[in-house]
Parts: sequence; C-alpha cells; structure tokens
Amino acid sequence: MVRYIVEVENLVSKYGEKVVHKGLNLKIKEGELYAIVGGSGAGKSTLLRELLLLRKVDGGKILFKGKDITKLSQKEIDELKKRIGVMFQFSTMLSSLTVGQNIIYVIKKRYNIDDKTAIDMAKIKLNLVGLNPDVFFMYPSELSGGMRKKASLAVALSTDPDILFLDEPTSGLDPISAEDFDTLVRTLVDTTGITIVQITHDLASLLFTDTVAVISEGLIVYEGNPNGLLNVENKWVKNLTSTLRFRRLLNGK
Ligand SMILES: Nc1ncnc2c1ncn2[C@@H]1O[C@H](COP(=O)(O)OP(=O)(O)OP(=O)(O)O)[C@@H](O)[C@H]1O
Ligand SMILES: [Mg+2]
Repeated sequence: MVRYIVEVENLVSKYGEKVVHKGLNLKIKEGELYAIVGGSGAGKSTLLRELLLLRKVDGGKILFKGKDITKLSQKEIDELKKRIGVMFQFSTMLSSLTVGQNIIYVIKKRYNIDDKTAIDMAKIKLNLVGLNPDVFFMYPSELSGGMRKKASLAVALSTDPDILFLDEPTSGLDPISAEDFDTLVRTLVDTTGITIVQITHDLASLLFTDTVAVISEGLIVYEGNPNGLLNVENKWVKNLTSTLRFRRLLNGK
C-alpha cells in the first residue's frame, strides 16, 4: 500500500487580495524523490514555507503522516519541526565554524549527547554525503561550490529528519557538480528511505526524480513521473518541454 508522508488538500494562500494558491492539491509518497517546479512567482517558496510550518495557510489542509498540521498547538508544531529538515538555497553554515563544528552545533542542539558522540555522529553525516574526512576541519569558505552544497546537506541531515526539503539545490553549480549532487540525492533516497522534496529550476535534476509537480496559476497542473510532462496541456509546461535542452535530456536518459 502506498503511504503518503505529506498530503496537501485544497490549499489556499493569499497575500492581502492576491491569491497565490487557489485550492492546490498534492501528495508526496514516503521514501520518494519529489520535485516542485513552476514559473517565477508561481508560489513555490510560499508553499515551501507552509510545508515547513513557517507560514499559516489561508484555507485547506496539510496532512503530515495523515495528521492535519494546520491545526496543531505550538508545542506540537515544535515537535513536528524536529522531523522536518531543510536546506535553503544559500548556505546556512556559519562561516566562523569549520564544517565539523557546524554539524556538531546542529546535532547538539537537537540531541542531548556528549561531545564524543556528537563528533562521531558528525563524521557519519559527512561520510553519508560522500565528503572526505579532511573536510571536517575545513571552513565553508575553503570549499568548492559542490562541496559546500554537500556539507550543507550533511548539516541538514544531522537532525535525522523524516522528510528533507531542498530549495534550488543545484543552482549556481557547474553541470558536473550539479549531476554529482543529483546522484547523491537519488542515492540517499534509495539507501536511507528518507523522503526528499526539491524545488528546482534545473531540468536535468527533474530526470532523477520519481514525481514532478508543476504549479501554475495557483494549482498543481501535473503530478507524475518526469516523462509524462510531455503530454501535459499547459502553456508553461509546453514551453518547458519544447525547449531543446529538455528534449535532449529526455532522449539521452
Ligand atoms: N511577503 C509577500 N507579500 C506580498 N506578496 C508576496 C509575498 N511573498 C510572495 N508574494 C507574491 O506571491 C507570489 C508567489 O510568490 P513566491 O515567492 O511563492 O513564488 P515562487 O514560485 O517562489 O517564485 P520564484 O521562482 O521567483 O522564487 C508572487 O506573485 C509574489 O510576488
Ligand atoms: Mg521562490
């Protein structure tokens, strides 16, 4: 039986008179790699903030493992937030701390454990994202863009979330580092069972995902596998799939 970790039902989001989501529906399966795409201003970041419990919805429901999270008490929200991870577009590591110290800082904030255990756990996280042990002692400024993203991912994974949200994870990376990162994300989903949701503009990244959701005019106009995008009758999707880049990527798969 398919189990959903997140179900969004008839979501309405507004800024004053402006309606951003007009009754949006989506379902994220446990243990899948899910991408959210859409044009600029489509409401991706707003949706992300709502899923992260950083913004209240104006209508509809968000179910997390079947439970409506739009009606939780503050205490329940604080508990739930511990199970949700996020990696924002720009590095959230503190530049005055080494990568290892950054990971340990987050681990110690989350778990009541001694230094030795925290160090061991941090090293495991670094290894999980495929970074060399030396990186533990390096400062974020000493890393390449690709390494910095992986280190940020290790920080985001250090609280052992059930679901992890990545905001434009490959933006600013060269194509080789971007593919390396996409492969890592795919492997994490396949080997650890974590659910990963990414907001992306990167067409190549879409082809690594299980499910793509397209936001357009306040609704999800497509939710399905990346190949199915070719049959979607929506102007924004047509524009996307008619690009040579998309067709080449799809054929090359
Ligand atoms: N704090 C705010 N106050 C008023 N309007 C806002 C606010 N934040 C976003 N909006 C508007 O809501 C709409 C959706 O914005 P949102 O940032 O969610 O889009 P997006 O899909 O993330 O776009 P982008 O790809 O450019 O990041 C836009 O029209 C935006 O101008
Ligand atoms: Mg945005």
